[in-house]
Amino acid sequence: MRLVLLGAPGSGKGTQATRLKEHLQVPHISTGDLLRAEVAAGTPLGLQAKEVMARGDLVSDEILLGMLKERFSREDTQAGFILDGYPRNLAQAAALDELLASLGQKFDAAVQLVVDNEQIIERLAGRAKAEGRADDTPESVRHRLNVYDEKTAPVIDFYRQHGQLTVVDGVGSLDEVFARIVEAIQAGHEVG
Ligand code: AP5
Repeated sequence: MRLVLLGAPGSGKGTQATRLKEHLQVPHISTGDLLRAEVAAGTPLGLQAKEVMARGDLVSDEILLGMLKERFSREDTQAGFILDGYPRNLAQAAALDELLASLGQKFDAAVQLVVDNEQIIERLAGRAKAEGRADDTPESVRHRLNVYDEKTAPVIDFYRQHGQLTVVDGVGSLDEVFARIVEAIQAGHEVG
């Protein structure tokens, strides 16, 4: 199964991807996690990305594509993948199609987790207290939501127009949301 998980910051992509990877037995590729690992390791790429991420802006398409190509060159992605945090703009959506085509692959489903902004702000405020992630400050969260509306929402529209989008309600317990995603991708698989 090749799955693209879409949704606003705090919609639960990472949380559900962790569960889905066990269920589907495929790797979870989170571009946010890949970038945070670079920041933590203090690599040149990490140093470049650090401030951009803390502000809640998007890191350059070029850096992201380089990281993604490297990750997809590894053997474990042959079995499938759950891509979380990419694509985030139309140029990245085109780059993903091209990358997958070059590998003779296509994704099976693009799943959007839908959560209202009020709940997102509450969730991320909770995580800020618990984990202190640099981009969970109120200003950065506001900015991330604006960036999502401006740059990432068109990707959702693009996949919808191409009949590739599955929309899932992301509000509820972790088990409820997980069950909805599994049901949605199974239904899509049977149809498609
Ligand atoms: P990234 O790490 O992708 O962050 P994000 O999209 O802002 O997503 P989050 O991790 O905040 O949320 P999530 O949807 O994964 O939710 P989660 O499961 O964690 O990106 C970070 C930054 O890296 C970007 O801003 C950008 O700078 C850069 N970047 C990454 N990819 C890029 C790209 N492609 N191009 C350019 N730049 C890129 O859950 C959030 C919280 O809610 C948690 O505390 C969780 O416990 C809680 N929660 C989850 N589900 C539920 C539920 N059902 N009920 C209650 N609480 C819940």
